[in-house]
Amino acid sequence: MTILNILSFPDPRLRTNAKTVKTINSDYKTLTTDMLETMYAAEGIGLAATQVNIHERVVVMDLSEDRNQPMIFINPEIIEKRGQAEGSEGCLSVPGQQAMVERSEWVKCRYQDLDGETHELETEGLLAICIQHELDHLQGKLFVDYLSKLKRDRIRKKLAKK
Ligand code: NI
Repeated sequence: MTILNILSFPDPRLRTNAKTVKTINSDYKTLTTDMLETMYAAEGIGLAATQVNIHERVVVMDLSEDRNQPMIFINPEIIEKRGQAEGSEGCLSVPGQQAMVERSEWVKCRYQDLDGETHELETEGLLAICIQHELDHLQGKLFVDYLSKLKRDRIRKKLAKK
């Protein structure tokens, strides 16, 4: 297993639009294992491939308290969404910073697993928010983009001091 380097805001590579995975081969088993290890090491709950400078539609998550329920999403897309929910968000690419972001309350997500099987997941709460946050990464979008320019600049300055 390899711990991958996580890009930090405002790195322009975080703005890349990820490509669809065409053939799900064993490389993706290795990639998602490394991404999960990287996410656990950084104490995050979700990580998109974009954040480790790999621009393909791959996301990993683990929302469990014991950190033993890894979830892997290949080619995820949100096909339906409903309602509104506001929650505090953070991001491994925006270390130490949190802000309130408004999202859909409920989402239906379609994705593939490592065997190439297609699944649909209907969910709300933290998992729904996390899915929306990670899928944004695949489109080069960060949670700070939902904030005012003033707040975003403040975060940029704080991170530049580190
Ligand atoms: Ni993030």
